[in-house]
Amino acid sequence: MKDSYALITGASSGIGLEIADYMAKKGFNLIITSRTESKLKKLSQELVSKYKVKVDVFSSDLADSSSPNKIFEFCESKGYFVEILINNAGYAIPTSFEETSMEDEEKFIRVLGISVIAITKLFIPKMIKNKHGKIMIVSSVAAFAPPSSIQVLYGPIKTFMNRFSEGINLSYNYRGITSTAVCPGYTVTNFHSASGVQEEMDRVPEFLKKPAKRIAIEGVDAMFKGKKVYIPTKTWKVIGFLINTTPKVVFDFLSSILAPGRYDKK
Ligand SMILES: NC(=O)c1ccc[n+]([C@@H]2O[C@H](COP(=O)([O-])OP(=O)(O)OC[C@H]3O[C@@H](n4cnc5c(N)ncnc54)[C@H](OP(=O)(O)O)[C@@H]3O)[C@@H](O)[C@H]2O)c1
Repeated sequence: MKDSYALITGASSGIGLEIADYMAKKGFNLIITSRTESKLKKLSQELVSKYKVKVDVFSSDLADSSSPNKIFEFCESKGYFVEILINNAGYAIPTSFEETSMEDEEKFIRVLGISVIAITKLFIPKMIKNKHGKIMIVSSVAAFAPPSSIQVLYGPIKTFMNRFSEGINLSYNYRGITSTAVCPGYTVTNFHSASGVQEEMDRVPEFLKKPAKRIAIEGVDAMFKGKKVYIPTKTWKVIGFLINTTPKVVFDFLSSILAPGRYDKK
């Protein structure tokens, strides 16, 4: 389709960067966004020279309520049809619930939740008109895990996003649009250092940490197959299965061994 694009949020590092690389490798034109313009421009230059696709950049902070509209207006002004929308941007709050200001909680919910809904709402009408569209939400295995006493809202917002993705699927599948919630486990990216939880990540056994490239490739492939919920890597598929089937009391014990630091021992 003429001037059709894939829009990727949080493309400046980690899973989003690898998704951008894989999508460009597949020949898709891209609009990449995050807060850090310098990183986006560098990535854009690399992808254009490597894969000969068109890559445009738009820097914006998704904690700002006006950002989804600004991203949409940018795409409209350039005449881009976003046929693939990848909602990936995210981070975690390192402080406990009682230490975190309400302002920071609201920003967090906006970046990982409200902005995803707003961006999807803005871009879906053209997908409906064209009877074609793919949406991916980079969620987390935390969506299925029991609540944690640190990062209290991280699991719940990812659960919300999984349910949102399911709702989009149910509502628009028959009109040619699918939505895929990709749920990675621990992934080696900038996420833990950017979120101030690198020490916790360092304590996680190596076999549980997966490379961002692998998550990106498996996630994008699942999106093209129209999977509703997808857990990348065999290890995390097994863990996801256990989370969903093991009695809670057994699961809580096992997860405290497998993921030290995730559950507050205070
Ligand atoms: N790493 C893991 O273990 C893991 C596991 C499960 C799920 N996930 C999910 O995977 C997604 C990607 O995370 P990652 O691991 O790739 O982390 P990352 O390397 O830190 O990348 C996060 C991306 O989000 C962008 N971002 C953060 N805050 C933003 C904001 N306010 N506005 C706009 N963009 C923002 C960052 O760019 P700027 O800093 O330039 O804005 C960056 O491009 C997240 O949704 C995360 O919840 C990660």
